[in-house]
Amino acid sequence: MNSVTQGIPSTIAKGAPPVRHYLQFSDLTADEYRYLLERSAFIKGKFKTFMRHQTLVDRTLAMIFEKASTRTRVSFEAGMYQLGGSVVHITTGDSQMGRSEPIEDSARVISRMADLVMIRTYEQTKIERFAAYSRVPVINGLTNEFHPCQILADIFTYIEHRGPIQGKTVAWVGDGNNMANTWLQAAELLDFNVHVSTPSGYEVNEETARIAGKLSAGRYKTYSNPVDACRDVDLVTTDVWTSMGFEAENETRRKAFATWCVNSEMMQAAKANALFMHCLPAHRGEEVSAEVIDGPQSVVWDEAENRMHVQKALMEFLLLGRID
Ligand code: CP
Ligand code: NVA
Repeated sequence: MNSVTQGIPSTIAKGAPPVRHYLQFSDLTADEYRYLLERSAFIKGKFKTFMRHQTLVDRTLAMIFEKASTRTRVSFEAGMYQLGGSVVHITTGDSQMGRSEPIEDSARVISRMADLVMIRTYEQTKIERFAAYSRVPVINGLTNEFHPCQILADIFTYIEHRGPIQGKTVAWVGDGNNMANTWLQAAELLDFNVHVSTPSGYEVNEETARIAGKLSAGRYKTYSNPVDACRDVDLVTTDVWTSMGFEAENETRRKAFATWCVNSEMMQAAKANALFMHCLPAHRGEEVSAEVIDGPQSVVWDEAENRMHVQKALMEFLLLGRID
């Protein structure tokens, strides 16, 4: 190392291990998830006791948003500051990305200045193209196909409230969307089961979810009646009927999803100690009744907060590896 190269991050130093991205849930191994979930609890504990935990001092996270966000923005931004780093917030509308600069060029430039990039966008292929040209880790902050940070937070939340998720059953009620796809990837890796109930025409597409031929037998079952899907499960979860980017289908979806509202009948079909989760934002009276989301089995506020704790652990892991 000479006076010019001194100080260059190890991620681009010669001989450094390849950059790790987090573009879908299956990008990490079960063993890495075990570490991350434990580390998240440790990091949360420090936050709750007002203890400093600054493992990413001087590092910068670039956050690129092509869709709206409350939780993802606040959790990544607050989390990065708490780790001692800083953030740059970019949207399509106020950057050259919205004026047709090729995504590959944006990736080359942004990843020379930032140490980590979080992207919320439309097609998964877009984030993959960015990652292919990024010299720093890229994190999926939601695409049409996946929402891995959310499922990581959901699993952490389940474990916090009820212990290991292994062997448990999750009911997915609603759209076969990015959340459903990610639950199914997670189920195989972390060895739990999923019951899926969607209206006809809104089923999970196994190719899109990248689970075709990859799941153990019986890993997930489909149900035409959402109450049946909830029977004896440990966790009931749902999401909006219309995801971002699909707003033109709103009216058609309202009709198709009318009986896919998680209500007390569904919660009563589940185990007595079952939890309710929703990634939020929620529409009371559509995908969930107010009684359920505001009721005693709902852990949606812990779930939202935990985004920050798990993402701090994730950012630390992608940049520093395991800290034992
Ligand atoms: N759950 C979630 O990702 O929320 P935001 O859209 O507010 O980021
Ligand atoms: N499925 C929803 C999740 C929002 C956090 C969407 O993609 O809009």
